[in-house]
Amino acid sequence: MIELRGLTKRFGNLVAVNDLSFRIERGDAFGFVGPNGAGKTTTIKMLATLLSPDGGGANVNGHDVVKDPEAVRACVGYMPDFFGVYDDMKVWEYLDFFAAAYRVPAPKRPDLIRDVLELTDLSERSEEYVDALSRGMKQRLCLAKTLVHDPEVLLLDEPASGLDPRARIEIRELLQELVKMDKTILISSHILPELSELCNKIGIIEGGKLVLAGDVKEISAQLAGGLRLIIRLGNRIEEACGFLADYPSIASAQLGEDGAVECVYNGAEGDQHSILTALVQAGFQVQSFSEEATNLETLYMRLTRGVGS
Ligand SMILES: Nc1ncnc2c1ncn2[C@@H]1O[C@H](COP(=O)(O)OP(=O)(O)OP(=O)(O)O)[C@@H](O)[C@H]1O
Ligand SMILES: [Mg+2]
Repeated sequence: MIELRGLTKRFGNLVAVNDLSFRIERGDAFGFVGPNGAGKTTTIKMLATLLSPDGGGANVNGHDVVKDPEAVRACVGYMPDFFGVYDDMKVWEYLDFFAAAYRVPAPKRPDLIRDVLELTDLSERSEEYVDALSRGMKQRLCLAKTLVHDPEVLLLDEPASGLDPRARIEIRELLQELVKMDKTILISSHILPELSELCNKIGIIEGGKLVLAGDVKEISAQLAGGLRLIIRLGNRIEEACGFLADYPSIASAQLGEDGAVECVYNGAEGDQHSILTALVQAGFQVQSFSEEATNLETLYMRLTRGVGS
């Protein structure tokens, strides 16, 4: 759905985006992570056709961002990292304005505006002035604006920045709705736990360069040298630990401080159930069997340590 091929942007001597290549498939929620000045906004602006690349290229939904910007804009909803000033404009007028700019026919607009207002929980605010809204509401309105032409791809530059915890959760829930609607989403953020709940893929950028991109689970498994399984047992815990350590697709097994067995699994993805079956068949009382949640924060710190500094 989105493909970057050696995408590059320079500002004078500074290479803000340096030979960036990765792919985002249809329906992916891709978290674009990196410190201040990493090149996230510059990359997103190039994908939104607002900046032209100095090297390489990119396609969105099969359209080239340089050769066919109109086609790209038609299928992309872009949420910038700041909200402009809109004097004397009511919420519905603001949305009507953008719908018109995206050439949504006038008779269709009222229904469409009602739908996006409902989705972003702003129906009650329709007659209020944009500039009088709180920051959280403005951010939701900005998201509503990116949806008026029903784009397949959403490019969201820090949609939750500067929001209080409740407003952040509201934005996250809204984004989860959009994931369910099968939109392809690229979202940049500094706030890693937010992305881990939302995204199936991540890309980490630092100093304009891609440090790593891929599936959140696979990346963390690679880093841990395998997937971590946490198993709680009702009996024969030490014996189970030895049983697991000898199991072919378990790299290591040890007893954790809280009495659970912690294993590193390096077998085939999706085959973890065979371990549960083997334990039960061997007569162990398994009380819980889980994968350790991916901690994106730890991942990020491990990957970006030292790079670019
Ligand atoms: N118009 C511009 N002219 C000159 N330099 C620029 C311009 N826009 C961005 N830069 C520089 O390019 C680099 C990347 O900036 P960019 O805004 O893409 O980073 P970012 O990852 O979005 O950072 P942040 O997390 O702070 O939003 C920075 O060093 C920035 O100063
Ligand atoms: Mg930015």
